[in-house]
Amino acid sequence: MKYFIANWKARMDSEKTIAWTKEFVNKLSSEEKIINKLHNGEIRIIICPPFPFLYLMKDKIKNFKNIFLGTQDISAFDEGTYTGEVTAKMLQNVISYAIIGHSERRHYFNESEELVGKKITQTQLYRIKPILCLRGVQDKIYPAVKIITYEPVGAIWPGKNEEPKKVVEMKKKLSLPTQTIFIYGGSVDETNIASYLETKEIDGFLVGNASLNPIKFIQIVNAA
Ligand code: PGA
Repeated sequence: MKYFIANWKARMDSEKTIAWTKEFVNKLSSEEKIINKLHNGEIRIIICPPFPFLYLMKDKIKNFKNIFLGTQDISAFDEGTYTGEVTAKMLQNVISYAIIGHSERRHYFNESEELVGKKITQTQLYRIKPILCLRGVQDKIYPAVKIITYEPVGAIWPGKNEEPKKVVEMKKKLSLPTQTIFIYGGSVDETNIASYLETKEIDGFLVGNASLNPIKFIQIVNAA
């Protein structure tokens, strides 16, 4: 199974989200090959919009098999007097996945390994699957996490995507537990996706910039 994860980051607005969803659903409905692959479990799509837009999409995608919602982060806290936090408990029936430890969070919000660990614990308490992002060998691997994303910081758009060969080399260096789903992220788009799909070592893709355009995102999925 190949994973295609859309990470919108802090972009889009409610009107754009409504338009994106409409275009995505319309286009996807006519893509027989993708629909079949979703049905057979050959591919899985996870859309991670900003928190406020989750409910704008939820109903629209609910009839598709193997399309799920995720978040780009989650609180390290359970519930309580933590003003502004969005917790796993709040989202347990809304999302299936949560991206944790993205390099932008580690960088701009000083997220420590301790915090990342607490966030993973929260996802597990509320049966949300964590998608842990690693910048490289310096970041901790949590044996309980089944989905690991390798995102070299310099490859993130507008950086330059890392060559598939190098991605596979890093996978070996990380010596992940067997059964780990290994995702690559960093400037994946409709022009370079085929080169990554040639290798069996990569189980999926975290797509930022190119996922903002639903047609481009579908083109990427369609390459599988
Ligand atoms: P990008 O983002 O595809 O825009 O490089 C990937 C990510 O950072 O998740």
